[in-house]
Amino acid sequence: MTILALDQGTSSSRAILFDAELRPLQIAARPVTQSYPRPGEVEHNPRELLDGILSCAREVLARVPKGSVAAIGLTNQRETTILWDRASGEALHPAIVWQDRRTAAACEALRAAGHEDLIRARSGLLADPYFSAGKLSWLLDHLPGARARAEAGELCFGTVDSWLIRHLTAGRLHVTDATNAARTGLFNIHTQRWDEALCALWRIPMALLPEVRDSAGDFGVTDVAALGQALPIRGVAGDQQAAAMGQGCFAPGQIKSTYGTGCFVLLNTGAQAVQSRHRLLTTVAARLRGEVSYALEGAIFVAGAAVQWLRDGPGLIARPEELEALAALADPADGTLLVPAFSGLGAPWWSPDSRGALLGLSARSGRAEIARAVLQSAGYQTRDLIGAMQADWPGGADMVLRVDGGMATSDAVVQFIADILGAPVDRAEVTEATARGVAWLAAWASDLAPGPQEFARSWQAGRRFEPQMDPAIRAARYARWQKAVAATLAF
Ligand code: G3P
Repeated sequence: MTILALDQGTSSSRAILFDAELRPLQIAARPVTQSYPRPGEVEHNPRELLDGILSCAREVLARVPKGSVAAIGLTNQRETTILWDRASGEALHPAIVWQDRRTAAACEALRAAGHEDLIRARSGLLADPYFSAGKLSWLLDHLPGARARAEAGELCFGTVDSWLIRHLTAGRLHVTDATNAARTGLFNIHTQRWDEALCALWRIPMALLPEVRDSAGDFGVTDVAALGQALPIRGVAGDQQAAAMGQGCFAPGQIKSTYGTGCFVLLNTGAQAVQSRHRLLTTVAARLRGEVSYALEGAIFVAGAAVQWLRDGPGLIARPEELEALAALADPADGTLLVPAFSGLGAPWWSPDSRGALLGLSARSGRAEIARAVLQSAGYQTRDLIGAMQADWPGGADMVLRVDGGMATSDAVVQFIADILGAPVDRAEVTEATARGVAWLAAWASDLAPGPQEFARSWQAGRRFEPQMDPAIRAARYARWQKAVAATLAF
């Protein structure tokens, strides 16, 4: 028996087939078109997200005997906001992507009016454009008649998981899971219900909202017209929570970092929802059989996206795989730094108006030095987050950081993370941790895999990276990075 994991991410849609031991067997992928209608705005075509997932799933299903796939697990880019017509399933507007900053002024107004404490206390989040609430409010304000139709129950809001399930089940379900709900800014992470006060603050009619379910369980059955067969959807989780599960981080203190489009560090805090004093997020790590566990999260908006920029902006590489070799040619004495604040800065700075900067250039700085600055920016930002976590939860974040995701397949990237942290870093044997996590959810819900503790024990490091940088050099480099960030914040 196999499990099909569908991973709808920011940069790509993928389908990955896992065997009963949750090892990847087959993969199909499609890129996602990024639209930037105005500076700071990022949109996706909801149809393209759906079509990408459907065609990847069909491609993988065509390679295996019919009837061999037991269940589907679905994971997704979080916060990205879609509004659709309940009856027809047509989206009313392009998806507003998590990186989109168009609601910065609205968020600032809520902060100035003193509402951030309420937002933080109930949702665990901040008044930042990152989250769905402001994006949905913007849609209701800007689409003619949308608010009245929303109040009449004619429209549905959903993150990408809800949108895909709507179409995979031919309109039968309007659902999400607790990890995705926790990223909207409308969900009370303590009561595990949509929060009336938060909805009122953002002027969101509650008739728009999906039903929230546990991450492992019944999410309907695919319509035969969608995938050619009726397959039960048994697991759903936001991609970062799925990655934490795929990395076996179920125990308090365990910590992972995923390097995809952005970079997201999650520290499991168990049954305790820790409120950050350093502007990290409190989020639902998982809700399994009604039991909620929490995490502290640090979100960086640009990690792999900086590699894409290097290719598509200045055109210094033709393919992401070239980054490491080019960076290795950099002059060791060069001090070029990149602060990749292309869509503002996330945790712990939360500065939506900041923009990126290359600093410390000399006349000798060239392609290789800029490539190295891109590579190292992921490490420096990781250290910012881990530092904030250690301050929030002393003694809690001592575990060895587990890394995964596309950028973490580069030895040079992971070595620099270990060097700048001054601590060992484990790279998982299966770097597809996100898909592995949601495959496990679906397998467990289908009684085909063991529970969380035993599954966690099956996690294996592929390689451990020990820090090699001299402590004095580390301190000096990190101090320079902090100065570079401060310059970007002040700009
Ligand atoms: O919060 C946004 C995150 O879920 C996106 O992840 O992997 O698409 O960069 P990724």
